Amino acid sequence: MELWRTPDAFRRACDEARRRGARVGLVPTMGALHRGHQTLVTEARKRADFVVATVFVNPTQFGPNEDLARYPRDLDGDAKKSDEAGADGVFAPSPEDMYPPGDETRVRVGRTAEGLCGVHRPGHFEGVATVVAKLFALTGPCVALFGRKDYQQLKVIERMARDLLLPVEVVGVPTVREPDGLAMSSRNRYLSAEDRDKARRIPMALTAASRAFASGERGAGELARIAREIVAEVASSIDYVDVADPDTVRVLGAGERAGERALLALALRLGGARLIDNVVLGEDPPPVAG
Ligand code: PAF
Repeated sequence: MELWRTPDAFRRACDEARRRGARVGLVPTMGALHRGHQTLVTEARKRADFVVATVFVNPTQFGPNEDLARYPRDLDGDAKKSDEAGADGVFAPSPEDMYPPGDETRVRVGRTAEGLCGVHRPGHFEGVATVVAKLFALTGPCVALFGRKDYQQLKVIERMARDLLLPVEVVGVPTVREPDGLAMSSRNRYLSAEDRDKARRIPMALTAASRAFASGERGAGELARIAREIVAEVASSIDYVDVADPDTVRVLGAGERAGERALLALALRLGGARLIDNVVLGEDPPPVAG
């Protein structure tokens, strides 16, 4: 497996693969890889002949008081896990390479980025869209894969690819969960043993709302209330528990009714970790089986 450290070397390898007629598949990550990321690589393998993962902790998507400095970094481990999952190589650039001196250009995102995390992390999705656009430009992928755990991010990137006429298929891959239903996330490693135990409430909350939805509940306020009540007992603080349109990510008011599909998304803090999760009611299985 190859490890590319510079944009030039990486671009050359992708160009060469395309010249050979290979379909190039891209899995962008910030590293600290877990089984969820490995599933993205496995899914990419099914859709492409040359699969690359990128490992870059993107500074422009972190706010001033967020966890950029302490975000877990383990390039050797990430290269090994990418290799095991079937990647042909890993691109791990430096911040200076991705944001050259004098850098000032950003991708301006729109309504898809306004609700949910957009309210609590100003500038976050602009940073995500900017770095993903750069990675698309370097890689020239036919297909790029993103986890549905970051559902709003997935929708922002889909929108960007459509709006900027980028010739890439954006694929959302179902969330990979621990046996108790907790979504895999690089940030789970911030959890103490006690907080990890409390985190079980997150999939329980999404499951309770899924069951209510399956029983016919469509009130956005009621669906959110059911989930909020379950996490409120353990969360240090809650950024949001909201019901939104699953295609546009427009947040529904408490008095509105959900359609046949609805996004239930939440973000909360548990000790030192900010965790997000979601379920598309009417589409995704409940996170906790049984
Ligand atoms: O989901 C992530 O890990 C990041 O937001 C991404 C898409 C790699 C952009 O930095």
